[in-house]
Amino acid sequence: PAGPIVVQGAMPVEAERFAQRLENPREEQIGGWRFWHGTVDGYPVVVSETLKGMSNAAAATAIAATQFHPVAIINQGTAGGHDPALKVYDIVLGKYSVNLGAFKTPNKAQGEGSDSRQWRPMDLLASKGSAGEDKNAHSIRQFPASGQLLAIAESVKDSYKQGRVVEGVIGSADVWNSELDRIRYFRDSYHTSVEEMETASAAQIAAAFNIPFVGIRVLSNNITNQGKYDPQTGLACQDYVYQVVKAYIAKT
Ligand code: 5AD
Repeated sequence: PAGPIVVQGAMPVEAERFAQRLENPREEQIGGWRFWHGTVDGYPVVVSETLKGMSNAAAATAIAATQFHPVAIINQGTAGGHDPALKVYDIVLGKYSVNLGAFKTPNKAQGEGSDSRQWRPMDLLASKGSAGEDKNAHSIRQFPASGQLLAIAESVKDSYKQGRVVEGVIGSADVWNSELDRIRYFRDSYHTSVEEMETASAAQIAAAFNIPFVGIRVLSNNITNQGKYDPQTGLACQDYVYQVVKAYIAKT
């Protein structure tokens, strides 16, 4: 039989709503992480509370991969806007994600200070040698979504009434950026639509296990257009992803 669909959310407010919608739910604790096993329309689904940040997301993804052999992983939850055209409650379907926390700085002597605009991206997957010395390791690594999952996520767009649903780029790091110039820099050079702290990490690990992956993120805040933080957006995102999961199950 085929494996389950895994739906990831970092915080309780990003996972529990989906878990409550599972048929016949059963909670399992593995290390520091909670998983809820159940079904949607009779098909196995596991909801995973990854906890916040890149390391937690990577570990939860590796656990899900080896323990449950999922057919698909959807990482979803809240994010902060980098694109001023996007409003709080809009949803970004990540055509790919990027790591916004991997850099090599230039050499500077004591007293020369630090300027993050001079940092170059560092591709940690470029080679087996030292990323710091590798001249070819300065491209921005993209973690692409599965084309099939992206198409299914697109297909239920019209069901969403609380905002727009667009394709875009998700940037991830253990950083909450609130400097508008820094955000503008990321948008210009990384083409980010939103930032958060898990998607690129989960995508990297899903790819290492050859598991189809997509990130789906709702804007809970957007300081580029005065969009005030609203945690309720995390519920709207789970409701959208529930429709995505139903569409996946109906099609496969
Ligand atoms: N920057 C970084 N992370 C954000 N999150 C929501 N908005 C932002 C933002 N502007 C998400 C992260 C993390 C938690 C802090 O909320 O993914 O799980």
